[in-house]
Amino acid sequence: MKVLIHEDAALAVDCVAGLMMARLARQPEVVLGLATGGTMEAVYARLIEAHRARRVSFARARSFNLDEYVGLRPDHPCSYWRYMREQLFDHVDMPAGATRLPRGDARDAEAEAVAYERAIVEAGDIGFQLLGLGANGHIGFNEPSSSLQSLTRIKTLTRSTREANARFFANPADVPRRAITMGIGTILRADEIVLLAYGAGKAEAAAAMIEGPMSAACPASALQMHRRTTVVLDEAAAGKLTLREYYEEVHPGGRSEVA
Ligand code: F6R
Repeated sequence: MKVLIHEDAALAVDCVAGLMMARLARQPEVVLGLATGGTMEAVYARLIEAHRARRVSFARARSFNLDEYVGLRPDHPCSYWRYMREQLFDHVDMPAGATRLPRGDARDAEAEAVAYERAIVEAGDIGFQLLGLGANGHIGFNEPSSSLQSLTRIKTLTRSTREANARFFANPADVPRRAITMGIGTILRADEIVLLAYGAGKAEAAAAMIEGPMSAACPASALQMHRRTTVVLDEAAAGKLTLREYYEEVHPGGRSEVA
């Protein structure tokens, strides 16, 4: 695991946007794995800026999002479909039909999860997977106790996740209780994974993910088994790392190449 620590969140965001742009430059037809949530808004804003300046194109890429709430139609204001259109898809050159999210409104959500997993396999698996980190250590909506080999399926959200995401809903009681999410096994098949976390609220989860025992209690700790994962943090999110000095020595200023 590469651990890159940046002075502040803006630099961490720039770093992640830069890593995705580098992958798109090397492999324009890459299959992207995309995340939603507050953390990613700034990353997508950077990518849109870069696209407008003709520094990145998504024209040949395809994407699969990590998750979607069960029960929400794509046009629901709080669906992740809507989020992705507003935050990225409507502003870049990704062809319609090249982007996919699980259908939250599928009549048979379990069958939708199975079909989604199959579609990822048929696409040759994810090439570049973007991840955020839940304060409870989740990735996607793989909550604590998720099987570390799980595939796309339905997960019941923890109360802490529903509370954390209530800010996106007019009424906290409207936060769905279940989501379709790529599994940890699905995520681990990605060729390259880049996880972004910033702010002190993520410090405990970041330490458990990077330095804790690999355990379903912190689903993100499964990334310890992945060969090509880069974790990008700001100083606040790095605040509880025991080996922080070591990471900073290997990657001064959060630079990706080894010093
Ligand atoms: C979203 C997702 C989640 C978020 C995580 C962090 O697609 O999969 O794992 O990345 O909950 O959310 P924020 O960024 O809102 O703190």
